[in-house]
Amino acid sequence: MERCTIQAVVVVIAAVWLGAAQATVYQDCGSTADIHEFSLSYCEVPPCIVHRPSNYDVNITFTPTSAASELETIIIATISGVDFPWPGPEGCSQLENDVCPLQIGHKYKYSAFMPVLVEYPAISVVVQWKLKDENDVIHFCAMFPITIV
Ligand SMILES: *[C@@H]1O[C@H](CO)[C@@H](O)[C@H](O)[C@H]1NC(C)=O
Repeated sequence: MERCTIQAVVVVIAAVWLGAAQATVYQDCGSTADIHEFSLSYCEVPPCIVHRPSNYDVNITFTPTSAASELETIIIATISGVDFPWPGPEGCSQLENDVCPLQIGHKYKYSAFMPVLVEYPAISVVVQWKLKDENDVIHFCAMFPITIV
């Protein structure tokens, strides 16, 4: 009985540790939702090294604190203080096993790709990844530096 309990604890700790190992460290830039996890493939601690051409997964699990009928992904790359729009995916269609409208208190998983095109320059930029709704509420906003190679 006692051994089973100890094994269960070890499994739980391992699961938490593996989950945490996948998350990416980021700076929050004003998310209104409760953010449970943000992860960008192959990057735990930025600057994230991204190779051209590739697609990187961006997963966000969040619980909105306000309702919304539409969601838009906005990606901005800041290069030497100048903001450039980065073409990105849609919003509502990136919700895994869920659809808009967003409901308060419901946990969503957003799963998208960050496209890194071959024509992008090999430079370091700060990326802002935002999820904005039709009322200009920013449900999620993360800033993280990347180096394009
Ligand atoms: C993102 O989510 C997808 C689908 O659930 C999964 O296959 C992928 O491994 C995840 N990637 C990261 C970086 O968390």
